[in-house]
Amino acid sequence: MKVQTLPPTDGNYNLQDYEEAKQNFDWSEIEKQFSWHETGKVNMAYEAIDRHAENPDKQNQVALHYLDGSRKEEYTFADMKKYTNKAANVMKEAGIQKGDRVFIFMSRSPELYFALLGAIKVGAIVGPLFEAFMEGAVRDRLEDSEAKALVTTPQLVERVPFDDLPNLETVFIHGGVDDEKGGFLDFDARLQQAGSDFEPEWVDREDGLILHYTSGSTGKPKGVYHVHNAMIQHYQTAKWVLDLKDGDVYWCTADPGWVTGTSYGIFGPWLAGVTNVVRGGRFSAQDWYDTLDRYNVSVWYSAPTAFRMLMSAGDELMKDYDLSSLRHILSVGEPLNPEVVRWGEKAFNLRIHDTWWMTETGAMMICNYPAMTIKAGSMGKPIPGVYGAIVDDQGNELPPNRMGNLAIKPTWPSMMRAIWNRKEKFDSYFELNGWYVSGDSAYMDEDGYFWFQGRVDDVIMTAGERVGPFEVESKLVEHPAVGEAGVIGKPDPVRGEIIKAFVALREGYEPSDELKEEIQSFVKKELAGHVAPKEIEFRKSLPKTRSGKIMRRVLKAWELDLPTGDLSTMED
Ligand code: WT7
Repeated sequence: MKVQTLPPTDGNYNLQDYEEAKQNFDWSEIEKQFSWHETGKVNMAYEAIDRHAENPDKQNQVALHYLDGSRKEEYTFADMKKYTNKAANVMKEAGIQKGDRVFIFMSRSPELYFALLGAIKVGAIVGPLFEAFMEGAVRDRLEDSEAKALVTTPQLVERVPFDDLPNLETVFIHGGVDDEKGGFLDFDARLQQAGSDFEPEWVDREDGLILHYTSGSTGKPKGVYHVHNAMIQHYQTAKWVLDLKDGDVYWCTADPGWVTGTSYGIFGPWLAGVTNVVRGGRFSAQDWYDTLDRYNVSVWYSAPTAFRMLMSAGDELMKDYDLSSLRHILSVGEPLNPEVVRWGEKAFNLRIHDTWWMTETGAMMICNYPAMTIKAGSMGKPIPGVYGAIVDDQGNELPPNRMGNLAIKPTWPSMMRAIWNRKEKFDSYFELNGWYVSGDSAYMDEDGYFWFQGRVDDVIMTAGERVGPFEVESKLVEHPAVGEAGVIGKPDPVRGEIIKAFVALREGYEPSDELKEEIQSFVKKELAGHVAPKEIEFRKSLPKTRSGKIMRRVLKAWELDLPTGDLSTMED
């Protein structure tokens, strides 16, 4: 593989600091940042909000800039303390206690953040649900977790199958409910009346914080269970990788229904005490550039799919906005194509920093941190305190440049503590000699950089060669006509598998046989003959998760006429 090496950035840390940090690293040093280091008792919401609200230098700083089509509001750390206290009082009065599961099923609004942090203040375990979930997906999650309470809206409550959920005792409605009809509680009215003082429930570091449901390639979604202790890593990666410091305005574009939207849309930035921007509503290139400009965003965490959409919207549009406040851009969730890194360089004069982690790992694990030399296309290196490796199917570490299972040596502070109610599922992550096995395949080069190749199930074997679909997809999107591409292995009697590409064309291009051939020879020419797709199928759009990942297993199921499995995370 050809590698483009970019010169180092001049961040505030130099590489030496990281390399030294790695040598004698001890996570227990990091927790000295927090008051619970002395008391032994902790609450995430206290550390993220109240601590700053009690600090005269911080209390009047804006903690949350909220913006959508109809609301534009700002809340200082003192305001956030007040409203999360009120939310905690509302929950406590309704009988919610430590350890109860409180689900939050609503689109982004300031009240979502009050409710989520308020629930944490009473010691509950929060379960955020993405607004687009339909009835079956809602049922699976509330049933599995035996949720006791739910905060939702008049529109979304229609999708809650109450008859199937005997444990669900309390339902709060944000956004209007007449006279608490039908036993629904009016969250907004109660919030207004509630007292603004609240003593957080002090819990143990190993007590439950959050449940994020995530899909595997088979079976029902799994409840990934995280505890308060995760804050050590949220905080440290917010410092080291997001590079957050006093004065920063930070924007994470992810919805809190996904782990990025909580670990780095709530916990990381507020533990670090910076101003956090939340933009509600759907993606629009104009709105996004406007958000960067309006708030003078300095650090921006987003995803390849969003960058590709901005890229497709064209550079002309950008000229209407002043984006000069940006100093650091990061990406997560799926492979960051070298093409996108190069676009970022041109468009923002900044390198987009890729980060790798998973719902299960709770926080960033393998990253391009600010001082590092970026190799475009690589996810970077394990952060200090994390030991990553490539192992074979027996759990033996492989030497550099060999493709295998991306694995991490347990454990780290933000590691999941369980899969809710499914011990055997949890244990199955550690079957290879005790390594945490990610399910991703990758290789590590001689400099210790990790290169993503695909989910293990996605790896294509063609004519005896292992081919990672990402490499082919990345090349395909470099062709001027190609907007997005998904690549799968299609069974073939001669070659084992052949490579088939599903392609969505950019605006202004029409499908044709000539275009197919042109794209095929482009990949052949640029990459290699054996990785050029033998078949190309044009589609209006590709099946993607709501977090933007191309769902290759769905493409494969379509191709082979197989059942598509769990589609609850698929974008409509
Ligand atoms: C899977 C985890 C945690 C953030 C959101 C995704 C893929 C994640 C990268 C990256 C290539 C990536 C992996 C991983 N992934 N980051 N930088 N490059 N692939 O969380 O839904 O739990 O998915 O996302 O396949 O295993 P998730």
